[in-house]
Amino acid sequence: MSGTAIGSVTVTLNGSDHAIKLPLLPGTIGPSVFDIRKLYPELGVFTYDPGYGGTAACESKITYIDGDEGILLHRGYPIDQLAEKSTFLEVAHLLLNGELPNEAELAAFERDVLLHTMVHEQLRQFYNGFRRDAHPMAVICGVVGALSAFYHDSLDVNNPVHRRISAFRLIAKVPTIAAWAYKYSLGQPFMYPRNDLGYAENFLYMMNAVPAEPYHVNPVLARAMDRILILHADHEQNASTSTVRLAGSTGANPFACVAAGIASLWGPAHGGANEAVLKMLAEIGSKEAIPDFIAKVKDKNSNVRLMGFGHRVYKNYDPRAKIMERTCHEVLDELGIKDDPLLDLALELERIALHDEYFISKKLYPNVDFYSGIILKAMGIPTSMFTVLFAVARTVGWISQWKEMMEDPLQRIGRPRQLYTGHPQRDYVALDERG
Ligand code: CMC
Repeated sequence: MSGTAIGSVTVTLNGSDHAIKLPLLPGTIGPSVFDIRKLYPELGVFTYDPGYGGTAACESKITYIDGDEGILLHRGYPIDQLAEKSTFLEVAHLLLNGELPNEAELAAFERDVLLHTMVHEQLRQFYNGFRRDAHPMAVICGVVGALSAFYHDSLDVNNPVHRRISAFRLIAKVPTIAAWAYKYSLGQPFMYPRNDLGYAENFLYMMNAVPAEPYHVNPVLARAMDRILILHADHEQNASTSTVRLAGSTGANPFACVAAGIASLWGPAHGGANEAVLKMLAEIGSKEAIPDFIAKVKDKNSNVRLMGFGHRVYKNYDPRAKIMERTCHEVLDELGIKDDPLLDLALELERIALHDEYFISKKLYPNVDFYSGIILKAMGIPTSMFTVLFAVARTVGWISQWKEMMEDPLQRIGRPRQLYTGHPQRDYVALDERG
């Protein structure tokens, strides 16, 4: 672990004279951490932190979030600068390798991704095992996991060359797998990747083109998609990334780990929220119905949440939501959509929520998912594909975090402990003696 202690806390248990010092370790920016590793071996106690709200599970140099200020940095670069000036593959290089590439490095990186965009032909047959109406997240979870059955030549997780090849395979193949999940749901032929197109452009092509006629990807929409991918590329130790790290800590191969990440992303509290936002807007239906909906959200017994609002870390505007809102206007302009009822409804919902004491006092602001669904819907992407898109983008973050973990000399199997509150030991009672 880097950094020398900048302080410590001395801990003793009541009734004991054995004291230990827990060093306080600094980060470059952000909160310092108490190193509690000696706590259990020396004092025999655990720490308790359900949801890990105050627990740093690893040391990382990839992404930094200041939730109070609404700041998101990748390798030190602010997300708004990356979203505006960079491309998704540049950001992928940055996350994976630590630095923005120069021209030659970017060209080599792009070529390495392009080399891997096709998937093994036999993998196509996996799709036929799924019902036609299967959710595409179920399909990609299965097919990405199945990659480990096809690419045996890169599965040695302790070999840096294997790790690198697997990273490229995942970044390159997940869009193909995702686009095919969509094509399968439509009953349309799968479109093979086109390596003369950019990353986002190729993804849109594989989703929207058909073999019967030429298809031209709108460059404004390709740029918007690229930006959406950048905005979702990584987000520190969120639930799916922690899932990937935990799975990877056992030595599981990266394809299996990323499949685990996809499963974790699916939930509506995480990546599934973009889909849930659109369902919510459809349910609300009109601006007039907003006050009733907000009342339901505030009712503790209703279990209704304002989807696309709130975040474990951001207690301010999610910086990605601001860029997403701008992109939303650009896409609607390009498509000639003057008045989009969904956007109008979302803007009004946001306005009302941001002025409501409930949301103000709990510091609930729009998150990245609040506007992404509206853009994607306008681009003609079906709701069930929204979280899939998130998974395509986050694959870069997952694999970068997995690689960082595998290269960390302090990496060991992730194994949380618990506060056990069940029965103490008791003796087995024979079936005929139980009441
Ligand atoms: N609507 C209404 N109330 C909310 C919401 C919401 N969206 N989010 C949090 N709260 C309330 C919650 O009821 C609780 O109130 P109280 O203190 O009175 O019990 C308080 O705010 C704190 O909430 P929490 O559930 O303890 O906070 P958390 O950090 O565990 O949850 C969250 C974070 C993102 C799961 C939650 O805000 C949420 O469910 N939001 C809606 C789903 C969503 O948009 N998720 C996408 C997150 S961003 C993209 C991603 O990570 O994938």
